[in-house]
Order: sequence, then structure tokens, then C-alpha cells
Amino acid sequence: MQAQTYPIPSSVKDVETKIDSVLSLMTLEEKIGQLVLYNGSWDLTGPASNLDTKQKEENIKNGRVGAMLNVLSVEATTEAQNLVMENSRLKIPLLFGYDVIHGYKTIFPVPLGETASWDLEAMEEAARIAALESVAHGVNWTFSPMIDISRDARWGRIMEGSGEDPYLTALVGVAKIKGYQGTDLSNPLTIAATAKHFAGYGFAEAGRDYNTVHIGENELHNTILPPFKAAVEAGVASIMNSFNDLDGIPATGHKVLQRDILKEEWKWDGFIVSDWASITEMIYHGFAEDKTHAAEIAMKAGSDMDMEGGSYEEGMKKLVEKGKIDEKMLDDSVKRVLRIKFKMGLFDDPFRYSNPGVLKTISFEDHLKTARDIGKKSIVLLKNKGNLLPLRPSVKNIAVIGPLADDKDTPIGNWRAQGEANSAVSVLEGIKRAVGGGINVSYAKGAALGVGERSFLMPLEINKTDRSGFAEAIAVAKKAEVVVMVLGEDAFQSGEGRSQVEIDFAGVQQELLEEIYKVNKNIILVLINGRPMDISWSAQNLPGILVAWQLGSESGNAIADVLFGNYNPSGKLPVSFPRSVGQEPLYYNQKNTGRPSNPEHVTFSGYTDSEKDALYPFGFGLSYTTFDYSEPQLSALEMNAGEELELSFTLRNTGKVKGKEVVQLYLRDVVSSATRPMKELKGFQLVELNPGEAKTIKFIIDEKMLQFYSANRVWESESGEFEIMVGGNSRDLQKLSFRLNK
Ligand code: BGC
Repeated sequence: MQAQTYPIPSSVKDVETKIDSVLSLMTLEEKIGQLVLYNGSWDLTGPASNLDTKQKEENIKNGRVGAMLNVLSVEATTEAQNLVMENSRLKIPLLFGYDVIHGYKTIFPVPLGETASWDLEAMEEAARIAALESVAHGVNWTFSPMIDISRDARWGRIMEGSGEDPYLTALVGVAKIKGYQGTDLSNPLTIAATAKHFAGYGFAEAGRDYNTVHIGENELHNTILPPFKAAVEAGVASIMNSFNDLDGIPATGHKVLQRDILKEEWKWDGFIVSDWASITEMIYHGFAEDKTHAAEIAMKAGSDMDMEGGSYEEGMKKLVEKGKIDEKMLDDSVKRVLRIKFKMGLFDDPFRYSNPGVLKTISFEDHLKTARDIGKKSIVLLKNKGNLLPLRPSVKNIAVIGPLADDKDTPIGNWRAQGEANSAVSVLEGIKRAVGGGINVSYAKGAALGVGERSFLMPLEINKTDRSGFAEAIAVAKKAEVVVMVLGEDAFQSGEGRSQVEIDFAGVQQELLEEIYKVNKNIILVLINGRPMDISWSAQNLPGILVAWQLGSESGNAIADVLFGNYNPSGKLPVSFPRSVGQEPLYYNQKNTGRPSNPEHVTFSGYTDSEKDALYPFGFGLSYTTFDYSEPQLSALEMNAGEELELSFTLRNTGKVKGKEVVQLYLRDVVSSATRPMKELKGFQLVELNPGEAKTIKFIIDEKMLQFYSANRVWESESGEFEIMVGGNSRDLQKLSFRLNK
């Protein structure tokens, strides 16, 4: 290993001075190199010659590459870093990026699932563990968290974010950034985070991935940008831009978004990485003539680093030499990349994240315990007729049925990093481990779901014809007291490029369910999913429904914890579950419209063939106990600018077991200079109560809470009436009003 010989005098302490001194030594080619991100095709211990091309290796040696992704072991990152240290002139260390989305090796619930826990500490801890396992494998930069607001269940990447609400998404994003980055980027047990995708990607029209986005300024500022602003305030190291165009301008070439808002207005000093080839893709958008033109547009718009697109490599030198790009503009991008490298301590020790010792300190067993903990907290109980759940010890005969019942792979989900295939605890395994002697657990698969090759890039084949397992499943169901029916989505039905026009049970699952129902109506549906699904039939007919998402390594154990009451479910939906796919995009924080309702005629904003609201709304989730909310009180009914109000009420556990409630606070600005949603989440608290216990809950309402991006194009509050609502979900709320005087 070559020692770092970077020529900065040790007397220089200030990072900005250090950056300037490095920059002053760099040639134009070396500067451009810092803005190039290569995919490394190195296997776990692979030699450098495994690189895509010899040319890439040469470029790394010559200091023409700033970062690599998908280089996945301490040996491999050491080897790549060594190429730079031994051969390049200035020895500027590489960054090593990877999509660590919900765990590295220990896999946590998919992000949409873990958001259902509303437990920010648990999510921060999961991110901290993911970071630790990443550095143990040489990775020091993750492309997470994804904080795109997504309200369309057809969009496969909805699994990767925190759902439909900007407030919740912002808090989850911040928790994850804290978990990944810690309080000091130079700590060698933390990694740099990336907030993505900037911006609007989750609003892809018709839920079709990469599709055009049409949103106006109001939606952009009030819905899409707040989580990014929060990420910036939390000190996120990098931000990834997005594939989509936004009102005609590809996000990667969007100067207003990147340069004006993110860098100028928000004064953020991290760097923007493009999404995979998104600079070059501006050619396909019909926005750039060729790579050189794409490079010019992207740089002017503020995109700092080119991920695998080759545009900066091909065009940037010419652009600067011809005077089309001012070298000072390029310098600013380079400084942003160097700044993060300095903050990460890479100039002090380029190998600080390639320490083979870290792996030896890791207890994967402890990490699995955390995965089980956040797993059980992420499960949402949607229906529990006759208190069928938790399963009582008197139930002696349980049938576990369905294509996903003994599936050890699907719970690992998509974007699984180095989570091993087939490594999750299946529902069947979890149940078998949980039951004591004397209880008979029988199993039948009934039918397959995903068949053939299942992988990140390849299309998934769904079994639509093979019903040969039905008879056995029916026979098993007939003999059981209770059927745990495990259905949903294959891991590769959601994720990038996995848009669907149908969101009900794919393949023969619904048929299987209805056949089982004919012989045994005591069915608990355990839904394994990455997106909200149309489960209308189940909601109408089945007594029990649990949304278990793709829950990660400990899936089956966490599900069994809830089924048998070792954990009282406390999860709440971070997305609306629709009555039908035709309602999508569907979200609770809609606007009232000019025609909210008209019981007499059809002329109102609704559907003639369906209710317009969700089947299960945002924030909804049941418990094995019940909670009573007393009538809320406000400390005053008027508030002047700069003052605060206190809202208080009593929450009581009125059931027989201990339970946790996610108490939710919503707000409505009744009349405003630009129309506002009928309700918006503005606060929540997780409150655990013993049976019979009561607690006074308080929320402070301050003016900041009342602000929005107004018709004046600034964040401000406006005087007038506000409604404030509290409850256990976004539908069943108690309401009060007050006035803001300004
Ligand atoms: C995705 C990004 C991801 C990148 C690198 C892209 O296709 O959109 O979210 O970080 O690939 O793997």
C-alpha cells in the first residue's frame, strides 16, 4: 500500500484553503477527472484488470476519475485507491459509492415499509448499521435516502421512498442522513449520504418510470422540495439529480432547480451527482445534440459529477478551451467534490474506509436483532374482525398458504445491495419457530408467483397459468382452524423500471385466495408488498389483514411476533391504499376543489363508479388495543405573528394490552393566496401506554408550521383561519379552529 504523499503543508488547517491549494495545482484534465464517476465491475476480490476496459484503468491511474460505484470489498477498494496513489500526479483519493438503500448485508424493510414504523430513531439506527456494514466492505458513499414524494402506486420506485407526505418524508430523510453520516463525516465508521432524486421523479406521469413530470411552482415548492431542504439543513454530502424532465426541462439540465435554488438560495456546498447517464440522456430527451452539448447544458445547470455517462469526459475539455464553459464554473464543481473528500478525511488517509479490521468488529447477529425490531414496528394491521389476531394459544391448527409463505427471497426486496438471495426468514419459518409444541402448522404453496430468472435488470415472469398446487392448498385449508395466507408482490415487481398498470394480486393469487375462502373463511392475509395494492376484495371479505411489506432479513420472525401478539402492531400507512388502480395517483393531502361534494347530483369532483377516498387512508393502522382521544383544547383561539399556541388532549389506552399509538396532527389553511390541501401532516408523536393508562399529549403550534410557498413566491404564513386536527389516522380526526393575526 502506497502512503499518501499529498503536498499540503500540515500548517494549513482550514478546509477551504486546502481545497484552493489543491485546485491551484490541477490541470484542466485533472479537474474534469474529479467530476467523473465510473462503474467498477470488480468482483469481491477482483484484480484491477477486471475493470470494464483497460482505458478506464488508465484513466484512474492518471487521476482522471473522481469516484467509482459498485466496487465492493476492502481488497477491491484498496486496489483501486492504490492505482491512484501509486500512479497519479496529485493522488486525489477516490470515493466509493453504492446503492445501500435498506441495508448492505443485513437487510431492513424496504424504505416505504420502514417508514410505516414512523419510528425515526429506529430508522436512524438501521441507517447507522447499513453504513457500518458498508465501510466494512470499502464503501464510503451511499446513494440514499430517496426522498421523492410518490403518490402513484403504479410507480415501482414508490417502494424506495417514504410515501406521499412531504413532512414525514423529510423527517425520515434526515434520520437516515444522520444514521449514515453521523455527526462527523471523517469518522471512518460512517459514510456520505446522497439525497435523491432532484427533483420531481416520483411524479412520473401515469406512474411510468422515467416519464415526463408536469408540476407547477406551487407543487414543486410545497410538496417536492421540502424534504430536500431538510436534507440540506441536515448536511447531506451529495444530492443526485433525476432522469425526468420537469415542465419541459430535464432535471439534469435544470438551472433553476440546481444552481438557483439548491446552490444559491439554499447555500448548499455539497456536490450534485447525476443519475446514471442522465447527462447523456438529455440527447434522448431531445434537449442536447450530442454528449458535448449535454455536458455544456448539465454544467451550466449545476450538475457536478457525471455518473457513467461519458459526457464530461468527451466534451468538457473542448467546452472550456473554446470558452463555452468558464473554467471558474468548473472549479466550483471540483471544489464541491474535493470539499466532501476533505471532510471525509480521505486526504489524511485515502484508505481510512478500506480497513479490514472493521468487518471483524461487526456482530451480524446484533444487526439481525435490529432488523427484527424495525421489521415488527413496520407492520400495519388493517383489519382484525372479531379480534382474530393475535392468534390465541387455543388455536391448534394453523395452515400457512400462498406463493410467498415460504419464500425466503422476496422479503429481501429490490435494491438489496449485498443481501443474499434466499436469506430471509420466511413467514412459515417464523411461525414454526414461534409456536410451542402441540400446535400443528401445515403448509401449501398453492401456486408460484415470480418464475424463472429474477433479478434487478431482467423482466419478471409471473405465473399466470399453473394452478396445479391449488388442490393441495385447499385440502390443507380445510383441516385448519386459521389460514395465514401470504400473498402480494415478488421482490422484483417493485423497484426501478417496475411500473405496473395493475396493482391487485398478480398471476393466479386472487383465484387461489377465493378458492381457499370457499373452504375456510378464517383467513389472515399477510401482504408482502413494495407498493400500495388494490386489496378491495380482501378488505370486504377477510377478517384479518396485515401489511408486512418486503420486510428484510428477519421478515418471518417479525411477522410471527405480530401474529402471536409478542408485539402489538403500531405501524401506520405512509401511503394511501386505493379502492382501485383508477384512483391513482391517490393521496390524503388533496385539495378541496371547487366541487368537493354534491349529494344531489353527479356534478362534483368524484367518480360515478367508486368512492373517491382511499380504502385505507394515510396514517391508518390498528392495534390489538384501542385508544381514546379526549376533546382537544387550544390555549387560545387567536395567535399573533411570532406567538405560539398549545394544543392538548388526553390519550387513553382503553383496551386490555399495552400498545403504541402514532398520534397525528394535521393542519389546514382555510383561505390562502394559493390553494392549500384539505389537511397536511404537521406533527406526530409515538406514545406507548399500558392498559387503562392515560397521558396528556401536547403539540406546540408556531408560525413556522403555518407557512407555505405562497402566491408571493416566498415561504410565509398568511393571516386568517386555520383548522387543526388530531387523531390516529388522516381520516378520523377531531377538529378545532384558530386565527392567525398578522
Ligand atoms: C438509479 C439511482 C441509482 C443509480 C446507481 C440509477 O439507475 O436511478 O437511484 O443510485 O442508478 O446505481
